[in-house]
Amino acid sequence: MQDVMELAPSAARPQHRPHVCPWWLGWTLVLPFRHWTQKPESWLEPLARTGCRALEVGPGTGFFTVPLAELVGSAGKVWCVDLQPRMLTTLGRRLRRRGLAERVSLRTCSADDLGVTDLADTMDLAVLIYVLHEVPDPARTLAQVVSTLRVGGRLLLVEPRGHCSAQLFAEQLRIAHDLGLVARDDALAPKLRSLQAAVLEKVQRPLVR
Ligand SMILES: C[S@@+](CC[C@H](N)C(=O)[O-])C[C@H]1O[C@@H](n2cnc3c(N)ncnc32)[C@H](O)[C@@H]1O
Repeated sequence: MQDVMELAPSAARPQHRPHVCPWWLGWTLVLPFRHWTQKPESWLEPLARTGCRALEVGPGTGFFTVPLAELVGSAGKVWCVDLQPRMLTTLGRRLRRRGLAERVSLRTCSADDLGVTDLADTMDLAVLIYVLHEVPDPARTLAQVVSTLRVGGRLLLVEPRGHCSAQLFAEQLRIAHDLGLVARDDALAPKLRSLQAAVLEKVQRPLVR
């Protein structure tokens, strides 16, 4: 596997040293006991309505993708973009077993290019759970995610405290704000001691005269 640090811009290196969760640990992401504390359905249900179009970056083996695909229904669609093809292979198998494969598009990407220009301004929801601290250039990745959101579209950002310091999370929120996202529906952001989370909304930028 290519070391993502080889791809990281030098300016990002001093503060931010990403480590990618390896594909062979993918099975641990969907262990049943994860449901004891993390509730994908209740996290996503207020954000993903029937017919919704959603982008999930770094879905791994799909702990959140399966409920997301169920929530958007047959009229909706989910685009999943992950760096590691082996994660998506397992995710595809899990979706097929549940009859959900038709409503989820699986794409591999490179570390700094999500390959989502064709989705510009079309997403109602973007989901980044336990992934942003793994990317080499969070500003670049967030810019690509924001470009896919329609005005009024929302981003659910969740980061684990163990791998993402409060300072790094604050920096992620600052970047998101600079890209035109504002904090919304704080009550909808999952609240657990082990993580930090925000629900952000894309707003219309004022016209510059
Ligand atoms: C810790 S796992 C989390 C998976 C899933 N979101 C979950 O919570 O179960 C992080 C995932 O992000 C993916 N990832 C890491 N860097 C990425 C990047 N630059 N672009 C897209 N996906 C990336 C990894 O391959 C992995 O599947």
